[in-house]
Amino acid sequence: MLSNLRHLLGLLLMIGLVGLLPNIGAKAQMGKNISKSEGVINISKGIKSVQQARQDWTIQCQGCHGVKAKGFESGTPRMNGQVSKFLGLEGGRAYLAQVPGVANAPLSNARLANVMNWTLVEFDPKHIPADSAPYTAEEIGLLRKTPLFLDSADVRQNILSQME
Ligand code: HEC
Repeated sequence: MLSNLRHLLGLLLMIGLVGLLPNIGAKAQMGKNISKSEGVINISKGIKSVQQARQDWTIQCQGCHGVKAKGFESGTPRMNGQVSKFLGLEGGRAYLAQVPGVANAPLSNARLANVMNWTLVEFDPKHIPADSAPYTAEEIGLLRKTPLFLDSADVRQNILSQME
């Protein structure tokens, strides 16, 4: 009777251990996925409030860009998975803050810097160059004084021609 019980306990323990194994593997995998690159860590320092960024994105940007920033064939380019590439191209960093939708958004410089940094981390963490500094309210304030208007599509094309 007692040995039967021991046997049963041993069996339960083994089943428990085997059950744990894939779990440990999954946790290690998750840890790997959420490890952040240097670029993401840098830009994230410029996100003062995620909640504010989400709210501003939803009200001021999402209508044209789409919930996941995948853009629309009717004219809004895809940002998801590629917008951060601009940071590494000549003129790209300024361009991102000078497009009409950004420069003319009815948001303070600080809120605009916040939502811009969030946009980069949220929609294209992979392509943020390691040495990128977050947009500050001061930088945004300067850049939005010279917004792009009708020329934005041409400026965009010139910058993109640097991409292979
Ligand atoms: C009225 C529609 C509209 C609104 C509102 C808008 N955008 Fe845009 N956005 C565009 C279009 C169209 C482009 C492509 C460049 C151009 O032609 O102006 C663009 C380009 C961009 C780009 C450059 C990406 C690229 O690939 O060219 C960024 C970054 C951006 N928008 C962010 C934002 C953010 C952040 C907001 C909210 C504060 C916002 N936009 C609001 C329409 C809009």
